[in-house]
Amino acid sequence: MSGIIGLPEPPPLGASALPPGTFDGVAVVVTGGGTGLGRAIATEFARLGASIVIGSRKQEHLDAGRAAIEELGRKVLTVACDIRVPEQIAAMFDAAEAEFGLPGVLVNNAAANFPVPAEDMSPNAWRTVVDITLNGTFFCAREFARRHLKAGTPASIVNIGASYAWTGGPGFAHSAAAKAGVKNMVETLAVEWGPYGIQVNGLVPGLFPHEDMTADIQANLARTHDKDAAQPAMRVGRPRELGWAATFLASPYARFISGHTLVADGANWQRRALTNPTVVTVRDQMGRGPFTG
Ligand code: HXC
Ligand code: NAP
Repeated sequence: MSGIIGLPEPPPLGASALPPGTFDGVAVVVTGGGTGLGRAIATEFARLGASIVIGSRKQEHLDAGRAAIEELGRKVLTVACDIRVPEQIAAMFDAAEAEFGLPGVLVNNAAANFPVPAEDMSPNAWRTVVDITLNGTFFCAREFARRHLKAGTPASIVNIGASYAWTGGPGFAHSAAAKAGVKNMVETLAVEWGPYGIQVNGLVPGLFPHEDMTADIQANLARTHDKDAAQPAMRVGRPRELGWAATFLASPYARFISGHTLVADGANWQRRALTNPTVVTVRDQMGRGPFTG
């Protein structure tokens, strides 16, 4: 249709928005940095000079993250770590400090999610997603901040969120509630830790499809046919766009931005009206029969 051009494509992969060397001498911890958006964020920090620490559970993800950073000629440390376990988080930071000194940036990117109607969700399914996404994010932030408070050094935290923190997320009650907690936590921690030089922000991706998405999430997305046309931008996000946003928030150029959650979604979550498309229950969307208890 004439005049419908959508939001322009960003510069190509490999371009950076910040000056070369912005993160020279800085170690950056990215949880879940071996896959998807975490890897895109980690590689952008590396392009700008950072040494990278990747923490997550699975060796194949750690290996993929390592390969991506080494390809850029930067230093990388990978540590097996389940962010539900505070002792494993402490061990990850011990290893990071031994290798690079105290990291200056923490990107809380790791999260858990799968679509399920709320009435079908087991208590352990709820607990697992909240434990990883909300509790794990707090445990990592706490460990990182305590080390900086002790050292008297400034630092920056970026928590990755989701827009259903504001809107609710039908089919994702656990993740939406956890991400609402993450957004709220940004605001509290920014105030508590600002006096100690620690900046805390949130970054919310809109729809950023990538090949590492879990089978559950991919199957859920496959139920929407034209993902580009479903966005006001007329396109989905490109993972490198998230890398630019994350590096900006943690950079010296954003020092006075704290307690803020930046949404990178081409205005998709504001796309609401009193006449939204016809209601389809989550059960129907997922092809499930009636609830039988
Ligand atoms: C219903 C499920 C389920 C599913 C797991 N469970 N998958 N329930 N539907 N698809 C239930 C299990 O039955 C179990 O409950 C409980 O959840 C814990 O499952 P485990 O497999 O034991 O947990 P664990 O091995 O710790 O694995 C965690 C996980 C897994 C969350 C279940 O999917 C994972 O490791 N995910 C990490 C990656 C990820 O989730 N990425 C998505 C991020 S994307 P019972 O009662 O049986 O014991 C994102 C936003 C995307 O967040 C937005 C897209 C548009
Ligand atoms: P992803 O590829 O599935 O990444 C999730 C990462 O979290 C994985 O690397 C995983 O590594 C790690 N992880 C999960 N549980 C963990 C645990 N207990 N301990 C340590 N690490 C754990 O998903 P993604 O799309 O890149 O998502 C990245 C972030 O963006 C998440 O916070 C997500 O909520 C957010 N987000 C994404 C989109 C999107 O469109 N892609 C939209 C909105 C929000 P291991 O399996 O190795 O542990």
